[in-house]
Amino acid sequence: MLSITIDNKQYQAEEGQSILEAALNNGIEIPHLCYHENLSAYGGCRLCLVEISRDGKTKLTTSCTYPAADGIIVETATPKVKKARRLVMELLLSMAPDSPQLQSYARKLGVHASRFKPDGDGCINCGLCVRVCTELVGANALTFANRGDQKTVGPPFEEEPENCIGCGACVLICPTDCIGIEENGDERKIKRWHKTLKMKYCKSCGRPYMPYAQIEFALQRTADAVPEEWFEKCPDCR
Ligand code: FES
Repeated sequence: MLSITIDNKQYQAEEGQSILEAALNNGIEIPHLCYHENLSAYGGCRLCLVEISRDGKTKLTTSCTYPAADGIIVETATPKVKKARRLVMELLLSMAPDSPQLQSYARKLGVHASRFKPDGDGCINCGLCVRVCTELVGANALTFANRGDQKTVGPPFEEEPENCIGCGACVLICPTDCIGIEENGDERKIKRWHKTLKMKYCKSCGRPYMPYAQIEFALQRTADAVPEEWFEKCPDCR
């Protein structure tokens, strides 16, 4: 175990944990948007900024990407941290001005408006959609492109993603709700990626319930451990 100091109190952290994980584990809340416990750290939203002191040097850093280390001193709410976080929040708000989730999060941080011109389509480039698709689903339909403020997330070459199986994981995880899913008859559309998939009808209740592409993907991934008949019925009728 490692011994770390957060806001003048001593806590224990596990080897390999980030500062954010150690803080959350010890019941200390640090604002965060792009961190997810089951995905790799990305450091995209920069909301989790903290001030750390080590070897006599102090700096602002994203706590989700900074590893906990023995003797490290972390400050989560200094005036400098709060100011930087509010600025970050204003920038995020300008990218997703219509997101109720973001607006409510901003209010919690004391940000009620952004001084930056609204300039975005709701995507804050947090990368959760790319990471869930790659790391949890394993479909690899989405990717990161460019760097710095040109950074984008989405399908490769901004074309309809060939590998998208229509599972909707990206839609569910998006913190600003900017991807969108729509079902019409036996078609499911993942709106932001312009991807439309045909769905299979449940043999029992007769409603379309899952894209064929998702079923095929599941069959391949489970290497026949799950029989094809399993997918004849929807989860409710099984
Ligand atoms: Fe750390 Fe987003 S949670 S940068």
